[in-house]
Amino acid sequence: MRIESTNGSYRDLEVQALAIAVFKDEKADDGFLKDLDAITGGVIKSLIDSEELQGKEAETVYLHLVGNDQIKAQRLLLVGVGERADYTTTEVSQMAGTALRGLRAKNAKSVAIVSRLEGNPEEIASVVVEGAVMSLYDPDKYRTSDKEERQIEKLVVVMDGADETGLKRGTERGRIIGESVNFTRDLANEPGAYMTPTNMAERAREIATEFGLNLDVLDEARMEQEGMGSLLCVSRGSDEPAQLIILKYTPSSAAEGSDDLLAFVGKGITFDSGGISLKPGENMELMKYDMTGGATVMGAMRAIAQLKPAIPVLGVVPCSENLPSGKATKPGDVVRAMTGKTIEVINTDAEGRLILADAIAYAKKLGATTIIDMATLTGAVSIALGDINTAVLGTDQELVDEIITAGKEAGEKFWQLPLDKEYTKQIKSDIADIKNVGGRKAGTITAAAFLKEFAEGVSWAHLDIAGTAWADDAKPFRAKGPTGIAVRTLLRIVARAAQKCQG
Ligand code: BES
Ligand code: ZN
Ligand code: ZN
Repeated sequence: MRIESTNGSYRDLEVQALAIAVFKDEKADDGFLKDLDAITGGVIKSLIDSEELQGKEAETVYLHLVGNDQIKAQRLLLVGVGERADYTTTEVSQMAGTALRGLRAKNAKSVAIVSRLEGNPEEIASVVVEGAVMSLYDPDKYRTSDKEERQIEKLVVVMDGADETGLKRGTERGRIIGESVNFTRDLANEPGAYMTPTNMAERAREIATEFGLNLDVLDEARMEQEGMGSLLCVSRGSDEPAQLIILKYTPSSAAEGSDDLLAFVGKGITFDSGGISLKPGENMELMKYDMTGGATVMGAMRAIAQLKPAIPVLGVVPCSENLPSGKATKPGDVVRAMTGKTIEVINTDAEGRLILADAIAYAKKLGATTIIDMATLTGAVSIALGDINTAVLGTDQELVDEIITAGKEAGEKFWQLPLDKEYTKQIKSDIADIKNVGGRKAGTITAAAFLKEFAEGVSWAHLDIAGTAWADDAKPFRAKGPTGIAVRTLLRIVARAAQKCQG
């Protein structure tokens, strides 16, 4: 899809279809809609009077403008966006998505979006394009029939009178972000047979080469040398060797004298059968997405390499399968993590925290001063927050607040869960320093309490994306399946940090 922008009027645009936002209870005889009503020969007033068009969120009205010489586009999609006062970048992104998914189904080849949000053109153009690009993702790669074959060839972002440079810059940023979110979704959607740890490393190599990132991949021999007994105990049951992917972005002109290093660490379990603590069969196929935390880090790094912020960023992705076999780690085994801490493995299905423990320790060894880890870590988080909010927990309240704020800007919701030191009692072991499960109570919190043991001395937060990384239902602006949650928030965090360090 070609993506362009214009600061001219939507009337003169050479596109097949126009998508225009309409606010709740908006009148046809005032302001923007008055002009549109005049141009379209009274059709807007007629739609509003008949209450067919009320501007409710995600409501759409589609029509052909036959024989109209006042406007070049021949088709019009009116997209309800709810209350004008609540209309922010989040709703704009969804409006653009609803428009593109809807117009693709109508076989439109060229589309223009009039979001009608006023403000910074760069910001607005970016979220329009993000929403548009993300909306066209479908997880049907392996289907040979009934596939969506229709394609939109051209998208134009319309902001009448906006500054052209900002508009262009935002359009490009939106494309990079949208494509990187879809990259993450593509990885998450791949079956475990194709997306093995080795394959994850290959995909990391591809983005490193294409976009210019530094790459290092530790094989099991190097993990052994580093003393990563916690990570290695998870891959022991599998024929596929574990891989520890390190991606590094270094800006061409870093701020002088700063030793700050932001690191993203993502769980890369390419298939989680539970290991010897085998999961029940129902829905086990979904456990191919247990590497989404890792894919999120890779998607974010892919975008960072192109957006070129002024601060360095490290991406660390421990990858492994979790399978049962004669060599697999057994419940009751004790392993030694890179930090020297000993762990009693009570349940081999609590494997995510085991691989993250050594990955966090390694990020610290590489100089990370702030660490955000993300993982499809617990089923319990879906019970607590459903598929709406991502859980965030951490030891640095400022960092947690920053994640929540950046999430709001990016249109992604985060909700903090407590992490009082009392929870750590639940992971005390009788024979080792800690154990890898903390009983039935507060499962998401005790998982984070386990990770906290390895994040001492740095500013640290953890995102449990198990409930939000996979959508069971489609929305007008999004297919069901992998959501790419948190990629946009991570990019906001980086942008905000880069801005701060530039003063
Ligand atoms: N990958 C799972 C968590 C998960 C469950 C992700 C459902 C997405 C959807 C994780 O490795 C796991 O199995 N966690 C256990 C922990 C338990 C054994 C303490 C869980 O949540 O049941
Ligand atoms: Zn598991
Ligand atoms: Zn898992």
